[in-house]
Amino acid sequence: MSATAEAPTTAEPAAETFSERLKAATWSDHTRAEHHGFTKALLDGELSLEGYTAMVAQHYFAYVALERVGRILADDPVAGRFDYPELERVPALEADLAHLLGADWRDRISPTPATRTYVARIEQMTDHPAGFVAHHYTRYMGDVSGGQFIRRIAAKAYDFTDDAGVAFYVFDALGSLPKFRTGYRERLDSLDLDEAAAAFLIQETRLAYQLNTEVLADLGRRHA
Ligand code: HEM
Repeated sequence: MSATAEAPTTAEPAAETFSERLKAATWSDHTRAEHHGFTKALLDGELSLEGYTAMVAQHYFAYVALERVGRILADDPVAGRFDYPELERVPALEADLAHLLGADWRDRISPTPATRTYVARIEQMTDHPAGFVAHHYTRYMGDVSGGQFIRRIAAKAYDFTDDAGVAFYVFDALGSLPKFRTGYRERLDSLDLDEAAAAFLIQETRLAYQLNTEVLADLGRRHA
């Protein structure tokens, strides 16, 4: 070998941030949720209003649990980083359900078996703050990303006016959604997690996607 041969490259690749690692490790699960038959019907504007309403009702049970556990963990050093009162979705879901089902909506909805399983897992996260972050990320980052497509498609498909029926997807209090997403990723990156907690958060996010996909599959069997 000549003395002038190129020196081996010693530069390390730029370190991946935690939010990048989380997204990369879970994107295949996202793809499965995104391309599910029920989601496809929704995105194609082909889901019945009854099917859409059933989805909103199942969201209601999941967000009641998410926001209840979030309040319990508001002072936790990890989960409390994601205490964003401006993300709260339960009041919007209540308004959507009143619009879709009428004043007696509470008597007309119940959780499906898949939703009961999902809610039970969210509730277990009261004792696992990093796992709570996983569930928070899976839902709210999805709502401020792909959820914005659903808002437009549903408003058109079901002739909703003034966001009645899609209030769940309206995040006016957040201002710019791209900026919000950047700030959210910065919070993920600033978490002081050891490797075991980081790996748990990633694994729990994969489970959160799977539980969401099962809720959609169940809805698909009933409505799509
Ligand atoms: C309905 C069909 C869906 C569409 C069209 C969609 C689309 C998208 C898009 C365009 C992004 C932004 C990607 C980026 O920032 O590079 C995104 C991000 C995300 N979506 Fe979805 N999505 C859908 C369903 C879902 C579902 C069912 C969930 C979970 C229950 C979900 C959770 C997420 C999360 C957590 C992110 C943030 C990923 C990150 O940047 O770390 N999405 N989605």
